[in-house]
Amino acid sequence: MTTTTTTTVTTDPLLLDTAAALAEHLAPRRAEGPVVLVPTMGALHDGHADLMDHARTLAGPRGTVVVTVFVNPLQFGEGEDLDRYPRTLDADLATCAAHGVDAVLAPAVDEVYPGGRPQVTVHPGPLGDVLEGASRPGHFAGVLTVVAKLFGLVRPDVAVFGEKDFQQQTLVRRMSLDLALGVDVVTVPTRREPDGLALSSRNRYLDPDQRAAALALSTALRAAADAGHHGADAARRAALAVLDAEPGVELDYLALVAPDLSDAPGAGDARLLVAARVGTTRLIDTLPLTLGGTDDPTDHPTGQPTPEQETP
Ligand code: PAF
Repeated sequence: MTTTTTTTVTTDPLLLDTAAALAEHLAPRRAEGPVVLVPTMGALHDGHADLMDHARTLAGPRGTVVVTVFVNPLQFGEGEDLDRYPRTLDADLATCAAHGVDAVLAPAVDEVYPGGRPQVTVHPGPLGDVLEGASRPGHFAGVLTVVAKLFGLVRPDVAVFGEKDFQQQTLVRRMSLDLALGVDVVTVPTRREPDGLALSSRNRYLDPDQRAAALALSTALRAAADAGHHGADAARRAALAVLDAEPGVELDYLALVAPDLSDAPGAGDARLLVAARVGTTRLIDTLPLTLGGTDDPTDHPTGQPTPEQETP
């Protein structure tokens, strides 16, 4: 009998904490292949690993994958979890090493914002005021400002984002287009636990009961996707039935939208987005679904469009 041993070779990425050092590192490499950026706030999990793997594929053997680890104070509101947000740089570096990352930029706050809180920021426009933006005023201005800044520091050809933060990736793509930043914004599907819970750096805040309750988010999305062929109302009802049955979940919003975050179509491709508080932890999730029209006459009793957003 022959046995095969597989050895995983990991190379430590270069850890840098200044933009100048990164610029020096990247200068000779830009001509070799694309620079692909994975912006993160650290506390890396397998979802981030998927982003890095995708970045590595896009960069190819001669390109450069850069991960930034920076907990951006601008995107946290008053009373949010900026102070307790997990900082796990050693573990993050090991994850980066295992997923083919070339360089990690982990700057201090005053390296990113040397003049203090920036006076010129990116305004996200109307899409920044709905859903997450309505619940977390100023959040997307903070996100887009730091992403624009990271684009300026790294000057990537491509940037890779997770699909779970669906509104974020929509806004970043729009920013790159509207401001001609020249960065190709690519997204990677959400990584889930075997039972369906979307991976999130914030899952580590959950105790076992809260972890069980949090499962209602992905279960609700899946129920809506299964009911989608009966139309938009049936999809919403299916999701709300799951969420209402879980007392540990305090729903913030459940929103059925088109893939570009405009109004949901009567039939065709759509997106369901959910945000909820479980204990003191705010979680979000999203799933694509296909709306199948009106084969259930109870779905559209008035024939009128239905509200795009359910807020309990
Ligand atoms: O998604 C995140 O982790 C953050 O919002 C990002 C894009 C790294 C900006 O701080």
